[in-house]
Amino acid sequence: MGDDTHGLNLQREVGIIVAVSFIGGTMIGSGIFISPQYVLSTIGSCCEISLTPPPPSFIIWSCCGLIAMLGGLCYAELGTIIPESGAEYIYILRTAGKVVAFMFVFSFIMVMRPASGTGVALIFAEYAVAPFYSGCTPPQMAVKFVAAVSILVLAIIKCLSVRLATGIQVVTMAVKVVALVVIILGGIVMLFQGRTENFEDSFEGTNAGISSIGIAFYQGLWSYDGWNTLNCLTEEVKHPEVNLPRAVLIAISLVTTLYLLVNVSYLAVMTPKELVSSSAVAVTWGNKVLGSWGWVMSVAAALSAFGSLNGTFFSGGRVCFVAAREGHMPDILSMAHVHRLTPSPALIFTTIISLVVLIPGDFQSIVNYFSFSAWFFYAIVLSGLIYLKIKKKDLPRSYKVPIVIPILVLIAAIFLVLAPIIDNPQIEYLYVALFILSGIVVYIPFIHYKLCPRVLDKLTVFLQLFLEVAPADKNL
Ligand code: ARG
Repeated sequence: MGDDTHGLNLQREVGIIVAVSFIGGTMIGSGIFISPQYVLSTIGSCCEISLTPPPPSFIIWSCCGLIAMLGGLCYAELGTIIPESGAEYIYILRTAGKVVAFMFVFSFIMVMRPASGTGVALIFAEYAVAPFYSGCTPPQMAVKFVAAVSILVLAIIKCLSVRLATGIQVVTMAVKVVALVVIILGGIVMLFQGRTENFEDSFEGTNAGISSIGIAFYQGLWSYDGWNTLNCLTEEVKHPEVNLPRAVLIAISLVTTLYLLVNVSYLAVMTPKELVSSSAVAVTWGNKVLGSWGWVMSVAAALSAFGSLNGTFFSGGRVCFVAAREGHMPDILSMAHVHRLTPSPALIFTTIISLVVLIPGDFQSIVNYFSFSAWFFYAIVLSGLIYLKIKKKDLPRSYKVPIVIPILVLIAAIFLVLAPIIDNPQIEYLYVALFILSGIVVYIPFIHYKLCPRVLDKLTVFLQLFLEVAPADKNL
């Protein structure tokens, strides 16, 4: 491509409403419609009679909200010190260096992002096909097929237009907020009618093993994950120095409040036992409270997951794009469409990997292994922030958090990584750790010694012409 395409870059199209929708709309996805029973059943003992009554699970949900908020504030500061897109990747690159950044992006693109995306896609598909299989469990093939279609449709939309993708984010965010408010109002009515018995004897049967607390946190934090979404696209945010911290504060406090109240409502309507045995909490809630209108909840849950999927892939594509720009991924992935200004090669690439991960994936294990790796890297990012706060005090930053905040989140992150291993070691965590380390094996020949097969250059030129893409500049 000639010089006429030089100066191509992604536009700053994200204002405060879209920014809040990106964070809130990615956070509210599958989790709140599905994980409350996992939090409750993990933190309670497994036998049926001594299921944990509410407060311990509320404590977990509140702590998760607090961790997300504090984490979000730390990222807001990072986003103003390092104004590039790419979230963890770029922060690790600028603080811990190239090797660790590559290990991150390697696991992020190959496992973590496809895992979180497919996790949400599977839940979308389950809710979307449920009405066609009323009274029985839908076949796995059908669920996976619909999940794959949703991933593909969203990928096409994102390659075509940034506006369209941001529009979907805003509309689905509005739908899910309304759905959660309906659940909350229904719960309040029930409480006024005197349905408070599920809140009594709260701590009986609590299962306080470190590993179960860790796993309950993984399940709870899954619902909050996505609090870092906006940092993946800082270069596309208008006035990021103001809008980034503001969007973090608005979105995370809104989501936390909604989640806590929704949990109250679930327990006002269902007994802990019913909650744990329901496969789709929101639908059971809908059937009990809305009667013949119960299906509305399935539609809302499906749309919610769809919106979260959109935010997940939108931001994931940006991380891949930034890593390619820094030479950590093939060049083609750092290019953008010459007219549409969307990073289509990176989007297509992340979509293909997700479709591969979808084939063997199952929701619960995806969530646990995803959280393990995610918190491992959050810990590295937070250590980087602490380093910058101590050693590079003078760097310009329009937003600052007191140093105790990253320290607290770092302690939480270390606990989250270690708890499930110490208390109940499972071989899978070792595999995940080995995978993260295997990034080094790829790094040395391909990135450090640049031993790139020649055919890759030819492929790059071919794809560049075929996809009509050209290198894009930083937007600083
Ligand atoms: N919190 C979302 C949910 O409950 C999952 C978001 C996954 N995406 C992400 N970017 N971390 O479904």
